[in-house]
Amino acid sequence: MEASFTSQKTYIDEFSPVEYFNMYYDSEQGKLPEWTDFVLQTLHEVFSSGGVEGDTIIDIGSGPTIYQLLSACEGFNKIIVSDFLEQNLAELQKWLKKEPGKFDWTSYIKHVCELEGNRVSWDEKAEKLRSKVKEVLRCDVLKKNPFEPLTLAPVDCVISCLCLEVACKDMDSFYNALTNLKDFIKPGGHLLLLSMLNSRYYAIGNTFFSTLPITKEGLEKALKDAGYEIVEIKYAAQNYQSNVEIFTGDTHYYVKARKPI
Ligand SMILES: C[S@@+](CC[C@H](N)C(=O)[O-])C[C@H]1O[C@@H](n2cnc3c(N)ncnc32)[C@H](O)[C@@H]1O
Repeated sequence: MEASFTSQKTYIDEFSPVEYFNMYYDSEQGKLPEWTDFVLQTLHEVFSSGGVEGDTIIDIGSGPTIYQLLSACEGFNKIIVSDFLEQNLAELQKWLKKEPGKFDWTSYIKHVCELEGNRVSWDEKAEKLRSKVKEVLRCDVLKKNPFEPLTLAPVDCVISCLCLEVACKDMDSFYNALTNLKDFIKPGGHLLLLSMLNSRYYAIGNTFFSTLPITKEGLEKALKDAGYEIVEIKYAAQNYQSNVEIFTGDTHYYVKARKPI
């Protein structure tokens, strides 16, 4: 199965947050998907070991999900979430405002509370995250100013999960996106990227969405060419298998990169 590059129109028309939840974030009897295990463990280690903290963090391509911010909310006063799609921003607002039909993230929140030594109850943790999300913004990471027409001041940290390979058609576009994001990071601030290597597509319902099949070498070169210092990088084999191939990709990755002072 090869998916040709997915247009922004297809995203607008076909990306269903509810189907996305059902396919990738349904936690059967509390067992979390392999991807989120990787992300939650990694981000717990990043944020509990110090060094990545400050006033503001921006999540780029948040989609309709909040799991990626559960540890980050300990290290920052203000969180900005963002996505290209209005339907994803609406889903985020539903969770933030505790509206009927919001996705149930309880097992994810409990898991992070356990990683953090159960210092607070899971509902206190959820409230803490809600209280830190100050803005929900539309963004397009392919634009020189992804938040156009807004102009945002540079922040201490940018995080992005499973977004750049989805948005970018080729390595030039990936490099440009990294460069665009760098403009939003203060000198000495960090970029945290978590995603998948060698992925060609993922499905939501019956629609296949393309992804850029990035390699370790391509990833590290693009970061360096875009002017980041790679502080930490981790690769982990992706072992999930199912009868129907709903996504491809063989390796989860995490990068902590720094914008030089
Ligand atoms: C696979 S989802 C990942 C969502 C979420 N971060 C997660 O970890 O599940 C990819 C997300 O990238 C967003 N996206 C696609 N193109 C984009 C663009 N040009 N700028 C910003 N976000 C984009 C999509 O709307 C979608 O929410």
